[in-house]
Amino acid sequence: MKRDYPNLCKPLNVGNVTLRNRMCSAPMGATDIDANGTPGPRTQGFYELRAKGGAAVVTVSELVVHPETDGSQMLHLSLSTPGQLGAFTFVADAIKRHGSIPSIELSHSGQYAGTYMVDKKKKGSLCQYGPSDGVRPDGMPVKALTREQIADIVAAYGTAAELAKRAGFEMVMLHVGHGWLLNQFLSPYFNKRDDEYGGALENRVRIVREVLGSIREAVGTGFPIEMRMSGSELFEGGYDLEEGCRIAEALEDLVDIIHVSAGSYQFGFSITHPSMFRDHGCNVYLAAEIKKHVSKPVATIGGLSDPAQMEEIIASGKADIVVMGRGLLADPELPNKVMSNRGDEVVKCLRCFVCMAERPMTQTRRCAVNPLIGREIEGMRLTPALERKRVLVVGGGIAGMVAAYTAAKRGHEVTLCEANGELGGILRLEQALPFKHEMYELGCTYELLCRRAGVDIRLNTPVDAAFAEEFAADAAIIAVGSEAKKPPFPIAEDTCVLSIEDLHIGGKKAEGEVVVAGAGLTGCECALHLAHEGKSVHLIASRSELAIDCNIRNRPILLAEIEAAGIDVRTGARVARVEKGQVVCTTSEGEITVPADTVVCAIGQRSRTEAVDELRDAAPFVRIVGDAVRPGTITAAVYQAYHAALDL
Ligand SMILES: Cc1cc2nc3c(=O)[nH]c(=O)nc-3n(C[C@H](O)[C@H](O)[C@H](O)COP(=O)(O)O)c2cc1C
Repeated sequence: MKRDYPNLCKPLNVGNVTLRNRMCSAPMGATDIDANGTPGPRTQGFYELRAKGGAAVVTVSELVVHPETDGSQMLHLSLSTPGQLGAFTFVADAIKRHGSIPSIELSHSGQYAGTYMVDKKKKGSLCQYGPSDGVRPDGMPVKALTREQIADIVAAYGTAAELAKRAGFEMVMLHVGHGWLLNQFLSPYFNKRDDEYGGALENRVRIVREVLGSIREAVGTGFPIEMRMSGSELFEGGYDLEEGCRIAEALEDLVDIIHVSAGSYQFGFSITHPSMFRDHGCNVYLAAEIKKHVSKPVATIGGLSDPAQMEEIIASGKADIVVMGRGLLADPELPNKVMSNRGDEVVKCLRCFVCMAERPMTQTRRCAVNPLIGREIEGMRLTPALERKRVLVVGGGIAGMVAAYTAAKRGHEVTLCEANGELGGILRLEQALPFKHEMYELGCTYELLCRRAGVDIRLNTPVDAAFAEEFAADAAIIAVGSEAKKPPFPIAEDTCVLSIEDLHIGGKKAEGEVVVAGAGLTGCECALHLAHEGKSVHLIASRSELAIDCNIRNRPILLAEIEAAGIDVRTGARVARVEKGQVVCTTSEGEITVPADTVVCAIGQRSRTEAVDELRDAAPFVRIVGDAVRPGTITAAVYQAYHAALDL
C-alpha cells in the first residue's frame, strides 16, 4: 500500500533490533509501583496500551540504579530487592507481545532526588548527592559524591542493565538529561569539581563514558543503548547547544541512539514538557543541530503529535526518530493510525498537563482526552454491544460527541441532535485562542470520528420531551452542556459588556481599555489572549488568587504568562457595577475604579438544568453527562460520556 507518511512508517535497524517505524513512546512514569519500586499490573497495562497502539519502542521509566545515594523518589522503579524481576518481566512481555521493543530508562536523580515526591527512604533529613557540595534551593544540603561512590554508581548502572536485559527488555535508555545526576555532571552550573570528573568537557563527560562502558559490558554487543540528553540546558549558567553538540560527539561512539530533549525539570519545566504556549516541535532545532555533528541515529521530542509535522521532521533529515510522551497518552493508537493512513483521526494532546497533575494529586494517572489512561485494566476497553440499541444523544459538544462515537463503535444505532448549526459546543470558543487550538481541533476530530462511525448527526435540532417521545429511543444520553451565567451586577446604558462567546465567536470586538471580570481559568486565558493581541487588559479577581480551577502543573505556567504579558491584575476585587468608561469594584479597602471601554464577563457557567429536567424520561435508559451535570473539565466530560456509552 502507499503510505501517507512514508518516512514515519519506515523501519530502522538499531543494533540487533528493528524499529518497526519511527514513532516511539517516551518514558512516562506509572502509578502502581510499590515502596520497593516493583511495578504492578496497572503499570503493565499503562505501557501495554502504547505497544498495542503501534509504537516502535515503548520506554518504561524510571529505574533507579543506586538507591544508596538516590532512591528517595516515590513511584520510581528499582531492581535492588530480590524477587522483583518477575514483575519487570511481565511488563517487558506485555510490550513485546504487540511487536514493540521494550526499553527501560536507567536513572539517578542526583541532588534533586526526592524534591517533588515523598521521601520514602527517609533520607531527606540527611542530604542528597550531586557532583559538588552545595545547598539546594529548598535548603537541602548536597554532598559531593566521592570517587568510591562514583565507582559504585557506575557499577550499579551495569547491574541494573543486566537485570533489565534478563527481564526481557531489548533496549535501555540512559537518562543523561533534564537536570538529573548525569546531566548535573555535564553541567557547568552544577559541576564545580576540580578532580578528573569536573572542569573541562572531557572531564565532565567522564562519568557518562564510564556508565556507558559499564552498561555495554553488562548487555553485550548489539544490545541498543539510547542516550537521552538535553540538547541545551537552556538556563543561565547551564551548557548551551554548542556544548550540547560537543557532548554528543564525545559520547556517540558508546551509544546507538542519541535522544535529544531539552532543558531541565528544575529550571525549565515548560521547555522540557512544551506547554500550550510554545510551538509544536519547539525543541526539534536542538536535535537537528546535533544531528549535523554525529553519525548515530538522532531522536527528537517535545510537543509532537501532528503526523504531517513529524513526517516532515524525518523527511527533511532533522531527526531519524520522533518520540512522543503526552501525544501517545492522548492517542495511543497514533502510530497505528499513521501506518493505516488515518492520520486525520488522531486525537491530539491538549498540553493541558492533566497527565502530570493527576499523579501528585491522586496517585493515579489521567488524560483529559483519553478516559483509558491510568485505568487500562479496569475493564474499560471498548467492546461490541450484545444488543443493538437505538440511542439518542442530545447535545453535540465534546461529551455528546464522545458518547455518540463510543456508542456507534460498539454497534449501536446512534442519532446525535444538536440545537446549533454546528457541533463542538463550548469548544468552538477555543478557536479564537491560538494557544488552545487543539481544544477546538478536538471537537473537529470527534465530529469526523462520529461521521465515520455512522452517527446520524442532526444539526439545528433541539430536543424536547415531545421529540424524545416520538423518537422512542432505547437509551438517551443527555449532554446539553452549560451556558454563561448572567452578570449579577448592574450595567449602565451605553456600555459595552460582552460574554466570552460574544468575543470569541460572536464577532464582537473588545476596544480600548478592556476589563475581564472573573479570573478563573477561562477569564485568565481570555485576558492573556487579549493582552497577546496588544490590548490594555485589567483582570478582576474576586478571590486572592487567580485560576484556582487550573491544575497544579499548568497553573504556574499560566500565571507566569499572565505576568509576562503585563496584565493589570486586581485581586480581592468584586465588580459592583459597570459605568460608562469604568468598572467600580468593592475591595476590603473600599471601592476602586478600573478604566473600562469594554467589559468581558467570565463569571462562570451554569448547567442547562431545565433542558435536563425535561428529558429525564426521554428513554428507558437515561444518562446525563458533562457540563449538564455540573460545569467542569473536558476530563470529566470525556470520562462520563465514554462510560455512559460503555454502559449501554
Ligand atoms: C506523565 C509524564 C511522566 C513523565 N515521566 C518521565 C520520566 O519518568 N522520565 C523521563 O525521562 N521523562 C518523563 N517525562 C517526560 C517525557 O518523557 C517527555 O520528555 C516530555 O513529556 C516531552 O514530550 P511530550 O511533549 O511529547 O510530552 C514524563 C512526561 C509525562 C507527560
